[in-house]
Amino acid sequence: MKNIVILISGRGSNFVSIAQAAQRENWLADGVRIAAVLSNRPGAAGLERAREMGIDSIVVDHKLYATREEFEEAMIAAIDPLKPDVIVLAGFMRVLTARFVDHYAGRILNIHPALLPLFKGLDTHERAIAAGVRVHGCTVHYVSTELDGGAIIGQAVVPVLPGDDPDRLAHRGLKLEHVLYPRCVRAAALGKVRLEGGRVKMDDETAASLVVMSNEI
Ligand code: GRF
Repeated sequence: MKNIVILISGRGSNFVSIAQAAQRENWLADGVRIAAVLSNRPGAAGLERAREMGIDSIVVDHKLYATREEFEEAMIAAIDPLKPDVIVLAGFMRVLTARFVDHYAGRILNIHPALLPLFKGLDTHERAIAAGVRVHGCTVHYVSTELDGGAIIGQAVVPVLPGDDPDRLAHRGLKLEHVLYPRCVRAAALGKVRLEGGRVKMDDETAASLVVMSNEI
């Protein structure tokens, strides 16, 4: 069995989209399961959704730890027994140190709301509109110790429209996150996507399926 562990901090809409895809597409039949969802915030809305969907949840409250290192050791202690093959960051709002990233090297995925390597960091929609770009989107990538800097797995593209404000553009992008992220997570869990020598390996068919254009949905 391939185990997926999903890390959230809040709303958890990407977690829900992955869990729904897993049910709809019967990932269990391919030996892939969501072992648990972990939140660093006890009040994260995504935890309630996990309960509704019958998915095990774990809280590791970062506020209970004096240092980032102690917090990460507590997360590792909670995650390791689940024997994770893929760790999915889905709106997880804590910076991870090399200790955590190296411990799960090549197994941590993140989704960033921009077409990397453009617009790393926060406020991506506001900055895209200010820059006057005509396309924006989201990127699923392996997590490295460089913030938003790991090897790219898949991307989804949306237009930036003249009437957009950051919220409207974010809403358009989020709809595609919910299509792209489940595909990337499934491909990683099945070993169709791998990280080798710092580069992403996958066949052409898989790569094509991990590029999503807004007119597809
Ligand atoms: C998404 O916009 C994602 O790109 C970013 O954080 C947000 C998470 O939203 N990394 P949700 O908690 O999955 O609804």
